[in-house]
Amino acid sequence: MNRIPSTVSAENLTQFETLALNSSMNLADGHARQQLTPAQAKVIAELPELWAEAVLRPVAEIEQETADSFFGMLGQHSHPFAAGRTLPCYSSSLAMEILARSLVTTSDAVALLHPTFDNIPDILRGVGLRLIPVEEEQAHDDDLPAELLQQVGCVFITTPNNPTGRVMTAERLTRLAEQCAEHNVVLALDTSFRGFDPAAQFDHYAILDASGCRWVVIEDTGKLWPTLELKIGWLVRSENVDLPIEKIHSDILLGTSPLIMLMVKRFADDGADGGLADLQRTIAENRALVRAELADVPDISFIDEDARTSVERVHVGSRLALDVWSAVSSQNLYVLPCQKFHWARPEEGDRMLRIALSRNPSTLLAGARVLRAALLDTPGLQG
Ligand SMILES: Cc1ncc(COP(=O)(O)O)c(C=O)c1O
Repeated sequence: MNRIPSTVSAENLTQFETLALNSSMNLADGHARQQLTPAQAKVIAELPELWAEAVLRPVAEIEQETADSFFGMLGQHSHPFAAGRTLPCYSSSLAMEILARSLVTTSDAVALLHPTFDNIPDILRGVGLRLIPVEEEQAHDDDLPAELLQQVGCVFITTPNNPTGRVMTAERLTRLAEQCAEHNVVLALDTSFRGFDPAAQFDHYAILDASGCRWVVIEDTGKLWPTLELKIGWLVRSENVDLPIEKIHSDILLGTSPLIMLMVKRFADDGADGGLADLQRTIAENRALVRAELADVPDISFIDEDARTSVERVHVGSRLALDVWSAVSSQNLYVLPCQKFHWARPEEGDRMLRIALSRNPSTLLAGARVLRAALLDTPGLQG
């Protein structure tokens, strides 16, 4: 696939990511592209047997087992599978689209975390919703203003956030859910990156249910494992959500592949058996590798010091991120310029690049060397 020629500027982050797909130094998208571990390779080698199992067994049974394994691996023991409120989708973006189409039936505005991955605002705007930015510091540090909650039908938070890695604590989630309950506003979470950070693995569903608020959570298997886009996005909702989610889900799909479900279950079982801790270690090593390679480049910094997610932001100092992006892409290295994460004020991302860490160390090292040379060569701007 090649949607746009490289001379044309991209309109969203996915178009930037598309440019990178055929490059050997693709550090752009946040999808997992590292080698399979031996345990994961064994699951892939057993796909023919999983196929035979998927043909024979009832889909509902496979879905329940997979959800129990995946949500269990992530500490989400109170997820409401048995109540029929955990709907599988082909991807988390599809779950997002279904949520957006549901929200717009009852509301015209959403308070959305800023910055965050741009397909979230794009999908919400795509159905006609008006967006009001909630700055990350505000979402994490303070109550949301009552005037804001009176204007919106939903508060949408990405935790851990992409690209910052910031995680909402149990205490903040509890308070935000209470506020949403008071104002009868839906609290929606995108937790696609939670597997990378144990701080995001407390039981969110217990807190959400206890608050009595109307809530929706989008969970995702797609960022964790190198499964070539075979993934499940789950759309999970509270009993009282009062949105036509099930109807809109059924307008679009009957279900996801039971083969992919069984594969996810096996990956999740391995994850619970130490694979997830291994992955977290690998990402930490990859982050350290990139930081070490760039350590002595003047006038740069690593913005998200404590981040554990599979992406790393670099502040390029007085340079423009797009100048650096152009310099490295001419040498086949692709990273992401950050403007579009700042969906309300793109200029705030002018001097930041995002590097994907779910890659083999050799790819990361080669990419970091090209980036290092480009940073040393790219003049800064004053002011
Ligand atoms: C936070 C977040 N949610 C959802 C998505 C969409 O994932 P997918 O392309 O698998 O639908 C992304 C993509 O990077 C993301 O970063």
